[in-house]
Amino acid sequence: MDIRLLRASDIPLIQHANLENLPENYFLKYYLYHALSWPQLSYVAVDVSRPPKTPYDHPKIVGYVLAKMEEEPADGVQHGHITSLSVMRTHRRLGIAEKLMRQSQLAMVETFGAHYVSLHVRVSNKAAIHLYRDTLGFKTEKTESKYYADGEDAYCMRLDLSFLREQLREAEEEQKEKNGTEGVDEGEPVGDVGRDPAAAKSSEPKIKVKVGRALGVGDLVEKVESKAS
Ligand code: ACO
Repeated sequence: MDIRLLRASDIPLIQHANLENLPENYFLKYYLYHALSWPQLSYVAVDVSRPPKTPYDHPKIVGYVLAKMEEEPADGVQHGHITSLSVMRTHRRLGIAEKLMRQSQLAMVETFGAHYVSLHVRVSNKAAIHLYRDTLGFKTEKTESKYYADGEDAYCMRLDLSFLREQLREAEEEQKEKNGTEGVDEGEPVGDVGRDPAAAKSSEPKIKVKVGRALGVGDLVEKVESKAS
């Protein structure tokens, strides 16, 4: 099984998985919006035991997590949100959903410095509630009455991600300590990238060239044509 980032070409396949597994369905453009706005946060599980035979064959996607960052958090705290998660029936209880969730949570912290992750789940969805609460450690914040279109209530759950922030900070410290004893490799100097090394060394005088518009601000102001100048 390969857990990898969602690609735009996977979108019809995850839409299919979503239609198979959940009553909450979305237009293609909603998946695309996630993939384009937060390309680091959504993952797919691909069954690689039977790889595609030709370049025209689709990868076998057996699970996905569609995630985003909350754009205007009401509490002002930067956090992620799980929009949708599902695993095909044939591949359940193999730890795929757990892996997808953990991967997305890590990316939320690494890429966006998320403080917590939130989600909604149907109060009757025992399997998902087990996964979120018992396996991943989510807490139920509140119950939202009639959240779903069919009138069912939702649990609003959230997971504090400070343990991940701490783990990342410790790993960074460790790396810094390691570099401190072995010397930091800063790579090639960036200023000369792409330049001919011989020309870079030559002592030819530098020539000033004009770039951009040669116009002053005055010329950029829209003129009132009706007035005689
Ligand atoms: N009953 C009880 N607990 C379960 C079940 C189940 N049927 N399935 C998973 N769990 C819990 C267990 O605690 C399990 O740990 P364990 O196997 O060590 O006991 C843990 O979740 C991890 O299980 P995974 O194997 O990672 O879960 P799986 O890959 O089977 O996917 C999922 C779980 C996503 C809920 C799957 O059953 C599914 O796709 N259901 C339909 C779609 C769905 O309900 N999605 C979530 C909606 S909420 C939202 O999208 C934000």
